[in-house]
Amino acid sequence: MTEAWRPDEDLDRPRHAASGPVKVRVPAKINLHLGVGPVRADGYHELSTVYHAISLYDEITARRGDTLTLTMEGEGAGELALDESNLVIRAARALAAHAKVPAHARLHLRKQIPLAAGLAGGSADAAAALVACDALWGLGLSRDELAAIAAGIGSDVPFLVYGGTALGTGRGEAVSPVLARPNTWHWVVAVADGGLSTPDVYRELDRLRDAGQAPRLPGHASNPLLGSADQLLAALRQRDPAVLGAALDNDLQAAALSLRPGLADVLKAGHAAGALAGLVSGSGPTCVFLAADGPHATRIAEDLTAGELCRAARTAHGPVPGARVS
Ligand code: C5P
Repeated sequence: MTEAWRPDEDLDRPRHAASGPVKVRVPAKINLHLGVGPVRADGYHELSTVYHAISLYDEITARRGDTLTLTMEGEGAGELALDESNLVIRAARALAAHAKVPAHARLHLRKQIPLAAGLAGGSADAAAALVACDALWGLGLSRDELAAIAAGIGSDVPFLVYGGTALGTGRGEAVSPVLARPNTWHWVVAVADGGLSTPDVYRELDRLRDAGQAPRLPGHASNPLLGSADQLLAALRQRDPAVLGAALDNDLQAAALSLRPGLADVLKAGHAAGALAGLVSGSGPTCVFLAADGPHATRIAEDLTAGELCRAARTAHGPVPGARVS
């Protein structure tokens, strides 16, 4: 049985520069609810989302150096640019600029979270870089201070500084923890071959909506296009996987399925394998399935692996903490 994580747990933050390497582990995220409003003047969509951190991890090791460098191994090695465009480098530079210290660190990324998968892997790595460099440089910034810097790097980055289960509003960067009695949920993560571009998926949703081909959820009176998270939040409090399964929803799913019709077969296979519910994770193409417990998740993952509709099927649980020194 996995021990439930409590959001009030936190590790001590070092206030002196670290002499040795700092290792930070950071989870992937899924969205239990993803309500997408209309596109805003700044090009982003207003969101009402429930983020959930799951036990699929990347790891960053930060060491002292005379300049800022990034190396990597694992998922996406050789594909992912390691230059100034990488979110890890951008995060380290943003933190250094905030703290007025030189951005000197040798960063190494060990990646398990697939790229462009709808699991916020790049955002997770940026959150890990903030926490790692904060410890390496002995800055002692609070989670809230790190999250404020994180918001400038990407919409999902602040959530991955905190982890757990949290409500995201604005473009997703305004995060508040969901306070529910601790409970552990069991998931199967079906990783697809190849990724999907997040902007493309948002654009496809706009196109489907304009063409009257994507449902508009009944939402807030102030913003009728934005589906409310209330039903999902109520389901979380009941701690019954069947109830949570019925409340999972994602406005981006129709767009991901439109761009990748084969995902419908993956969702069907998960249901056929006995999952309580399944949905596309964020902008996809990863699909996630809810299981009743850990052994149930293992059986579903085995069935999905045997069916060969996805590249890999992994079990995970949530919620777990965000980026933490390990
Ligand atoms: O914030 P981030 O850089 O991760 O977002 C990536 C892209 O996803 C944005 O450039 C935008 O096209 C889309 N997006 C959006 N609305 C959001 C979040 C992201 O349209 N709330």
